[in-house]
Amino acid sequence: MPSTPVPAAVVDPAAATPAPWWTRATVYQIWPRSFADGDGDGIGDLAGIRSKLGHLSDLGVDVIWLSPVYPSPQVDAGYDISDYDTIDPLFGTLEEFDELLAEVHALGMKLVMDLVVNHTSDQHPWFVEARSSVDSPKRDWYVWRPQRPDGARPTEWRSAFSGPAWTLDEATGEWYLHMFAAAQPDLNWANPEVRAAVHALMDRWLDRGVDGFRMDVINHIAKSPASLEAGAAGFEMGAQIHDHLQEMHREVFAHRGDRELLTVGEMPGVSVEDAVLFTDPARRELDMVFQFEHVVLDNGPGSKFDHVPLRLTDLKRSLGRWQEGLAERGWNSLYLGNHDQPRSVSRYGDDGRWRYESATLLAAVLHLHRGTPYVYQGDEIGMTNARFTRLDQYRDVESLNRHQEARAAGATEEEVLETLRVRSRDNGRTPVQWADGPGAGFTTGTPWIEVPASGAEITVAADRASGERSVFDFYRRLIALRHDDRVVQLGAFTMLAPDDERLYAFTRTLGDERLLVVANWSGEPYELDPALDPLLGAALSAVPAGGAAPELVIGNVPGSSGPTLSPWEVRVLRA
Ligand code: NOJ
Repeated sequence: MPSTPVPAAVVDPAAATPAPWWTRATVYQIWPRSFADGDGDGIGDLAGIRSKLGHLSDLGVDVIWLSPVYPSPQVDAGYDISDYDTIDPLFGTLEEFDELLAEVHALGMKLVMDLVVNHTSDQHPWFVEARSSVDSPKRDWYVWRPQRPDGARPTEWRSAFSGPAWTLDEATGEWYLHMFAAAQPDLNWANPEVRAAVHALMDRWLDRGVDGFRMDVINHIAKSPASLEAGAAGFEMGAQIHDHLQEMHREVFAHRGDRELLTVGEMPGVSVEDAVLFTDPARRELDMVFQFEHVVLDNGPGSKFDHVPLRLTDLKRSLGRWQEGLAERGWNSLYLGNHDQPRSVSRYGDDGRWRYESATLLAAVLHLHRGTPYVYQGDEIGMTNARFTRLDQYRDVESLNRHQEARAAGATEEEVLETLRVRSRDNGRTPVQWADGPGAGFTTGTPWIEVPASGAEITVAADRASGERSVFDFYRRLIALRHDDRVVQLGAFTMLAPDDERLYAFTRTLGDERLLVVANWSGEPYELDPALDPLLGAALSAVPAGGAAPELVIGNVPGSSGPTLSPWEVRVLRA
């Protein structure tokens, strides 16, 4: 396999073992439907991705994570898979996939597939067979429960997409479990045949040359048998999860030790303590997990749609706890946006007047934490939320179900539209805005979802032509910094000023090298206190004590050096 642009292994002095390659890597997520359309049908595809690989290699990312491109009825935008072994004609062919993979490798990048095996589509032959009869040999591949005498559902579990997590299969008179849409039945991982079938399909993709997997809701695969039997109110993760992941490691990854592969498990609700277990290299489960704590802080009591304002101190407490919790064992993944979240600059920054400053501040703060950063498509040019005003502009099953449920419960149309405007997943799913013009350079046809009004202004072409104010260029520099800088890769993290509602500040330390990040998370100027950290004191003093003045590694306000941070200014200093 061609070598990646990341340097040879460095030694982690703390652990005295070579640090894994992904401590130096940045991952870029492609959500294919909206990345680039090569054939003009309005839907992104593999040809489109191939035409834009130069963009990714200019950005300098090491790994591409490709959201699902397998055959699918597209009830949940491809997260409902009906065949694990090929490519949906919507996106291209298997031959095109092989060509894409070869091109990605030739550019020194890796390609990680999405592995969606908590559930399949209800159109997958496994489920079609399973639901055909209670005696089907595949019946036990899914989670079925008989009708209870009182007619109640087997448990009170709720689907993540509104409504109950059980649907009655009229023909056989039993309920099947679906943690997501009714068209996404959950597989029964207690059945060894299911596990073997999943290992086999993973093997086939690894044999094809892919470089690992992002595993969809992987902590949901083990359902607690006790909570299932007791009819519990909420989903509980079963203790078997660790056995399942260790077995997967043994069966699929252990004999491929000569390859640099990546495993990242998406885990809603995972605790720091559990994440240590999942990502401790000695336990051989996963390289890292996507945790959710920081992206639910602005959820209200009911659901993410009852959003509340985010307090910076809560965000710092949460991310700081994860930095601390995984400091000795395990590893963090770092993300603010993805295809399930609103655009990060709209959610955490100021997507109007301070869009450039806040988009770059968010990037610097995130990428300089300890962990592997993930860039979601479009964030590298500071794309903003969709700002849709009508229901017919939305496409996502979660948003449409939410609308229906909230209206039935008495909410007005305006109320529901307002919550979707803030939290709908479609905010992050509009086409990547490559250039001004109809279709935003994404398609020559009619896009499957509207290009927001911002498509006339926030584009890759405009951003890359904007010199010092290019968000893309700022990301490129951060990604390059991680390749080369051992403090960024491995330095210990310390949060500063945890109680300050406007300043996000921290240090990274490795041996006697230190980095200091100071970020003004607000639209007002911020007066820095030189006593915050000796490095800052030295940077702000006219005559630095004992040696050279700290160096400005990267910042988003050119020429700035005094004690006042401008609105949304970030500075990264090194001693
Ligand atoms: C998590 C995925 O990221 C999301 O898009 C999907 O809807 C659910 N899992 C179900 O697969």
